[in-house]
This record gives sequence, C-alpha cells and structure tokens, in this order.
Amino acid sequence: MSVSERVEGHYGSEGIAQRILAALRAEIGPAAPVTPDALAPLDHFHGRGVLATRELAAMLDPKPGEAVLDIGCGIGGPARWIADKFGCRVTGVDLTHAFIQAAEALNAAAGMSGKVTVRRASALDLPFPAASFDRAYSQNVVMNIADKAKFYSEAYRVLRPGGVLALSNGASGAGGPPYFPVPWAESAETSFLSTIEETRQDIAAAGFAILRFHDTTDDIRAQVAGQRRRIETEGYPKLGLHVLIGERMKTYQLNSLRSVEDGRMRMVEVLARKAG
Ligand SMILES: C[S@@+](CC[C@H](N)C(=O)[O-])C[C@H]1O[C@@H](n2cnc3c(N)ncnc32)[C@H](O)[C@@H]1O
Repeated sequence: MSVSERVEGHYGSEGIAQRILAALRAEIGPAAPVTPDALAPLDHFHGRGVLATRELAAMLDPKPGEAVLDIGCGIGGPARWIADKFGCRVTGVDLTHAFIQAAEALNAAAGMSGKVTVRRASALDLPFPAASFDRAYSQNVVMNIADKAKFYSEAYRVLRPGGVLALSNGASGAGGPPYFPVPWAESAETSFLSTIEETRQDIAAAGFAILRFHDTTDDIRAQVAGQRRRIETEGYPKLGLHVLIGERMKTYQLNSLRSVEDGRMRMVEVLARKAG
C-alpha cells in the first residue's frame, strides 16, 4: 500500500458530514443556523482548533475577493472560517476523498458553496496553473509528506509573484519521536516530521523569502498542558474531533499533547513570500 493510500485510510470514514451535523443539531437545536463558528469545535482538524486558525489567518491577512488556496483542507473548517471572516474566496484541496465529500456537504449546509470550493488532489501535484492564487496556507499537512521539496515548490508555483504562504505545522523535537498513534498518523510509516531548522531550509530552498518564522512551542505549552488536564479530568466535550474521526481521536489527541509537553514535538508558524 502506498503512503497516500495509508494516509487516506487513516483519515477517511463514511458519513462524516451526517455525524457532524447530527451532533451539532443536538447541541444547538434544529432551527439554529449552521455557521463556520458553530461548526468550529468539529471541523478545525489541528491542535488548538479555531484558535490556531485565527492566528494563522491574522498572519495570512487575506483581502476581500482574493483567491486563497488551502493545501490539505481536511473537511474545510478553516476554509469556511477564513472565507467568512475575511470575504475572500477559498479553494481547498485534500487527498482524502471522504473529507472532500464532507467538505462539500458542510459548505452547502453553511450556505458557503459560493465562497469555498474543494477538490480532491494531492499537494504534490496541484491541479492549478502557475500563479493562480494571491495567498495560500496549510495547517498540519506537511507532517504526512516525505517529499518536502515538492510540497513547497508546488505551493510556490501556484502563487502569483509576491503572493504569500502561511504555514502552521508540527516539527520534530529533541526528545525522540512522538507518542504514536497521533492525529496525523498511526505510526512512523506515515509521519514525516522535520526539525525546525530543516523546515526553514526547505521553505527557503523552494525560492520563498521568509517573512516570519516562529517556533510557537513555548508560547503554547501552558495551553497544551491545560487542555490535556481538562480532557483527563473532565473528559471530552460533546462537540469535538472525535465526532469527525471516531473514539480513537481521544488517544491521538492525548498522545499529541503529551508529545508537545515532553519535547517530542514542536510547533512552528511561518509566513513566506514568493519573489516578484
Ligand atoms: C491533520 S489534517 C488537517 C486538515 C486541515 N488542514 C485542518 O487543519 O483542519 C491533515 C490533512 O492533510 C491531508 N493530506 C495529507 N497528505 C496530503 C497530500 N499529499 N495532499 C493533500 N492532502 C494531504 C489529509 O487528507 C488531511 O485532511
């Protein structure tokens, strides 16, 4: 089985949008509108959820009407949230077919199909001509990708000259490998964490000028520890990523939080610009 097949097998399942909408309806009632904010506990599939998306979006700073690409969009939570808050048009691509199906259904449920479009595609072979987008971003995707050079060079190719790329990713820590399984991988076979310094080098090697490069691990350590303690003492909230992924998400999330706390994983935020 190829890495792509394993990755897709790890993430995908049947009936994702139906599960999410049923859980949301049970919480907010049958008549309440399905908005990007209401969906946020369920559809931002990365550590610290919508909080991390808000920080990434502030760095990306998209303008109304701009064309923005989400590389590895998952079920489209960040794309809907950013399109809603900033008035830009977001195109998402993702490898996992079940995620693209769910993204389409959730775009429709939130009345956002005109602002957010999604396509099933690999980040390593983006189905767009050169210079198609004003801005691009990617959250917790490159951790599944061995060929970093191809990932960053594809992002570079589809940006217009002067376009910017915002990234928020996990990187390897000095304390050893993460505690598997984690949200992005069952095992080391589909987990490809670079060091912080390798991340910087890979982005620069694609031709980007690095505008901001920040290891956020120390800033978020207290939040991470608080989140782990809350889960361990109070359990999981009704609306969480376990609705998307299943009960196994609880183990994944605790392992991921512990990996950050124990120095086995670091988090990095980057803003980079294409020349021109
Ligand atoms: C942890 S999820 C993050 C999803 C989304 N960025 C978010 O923050 O909600 C990682 C995503 O990367 C996608 N992915 C992994 N490898 C990919 C590739 N080669 N091309 C496109 N998407 C990929 C997976 O399908 C999954 O949706």
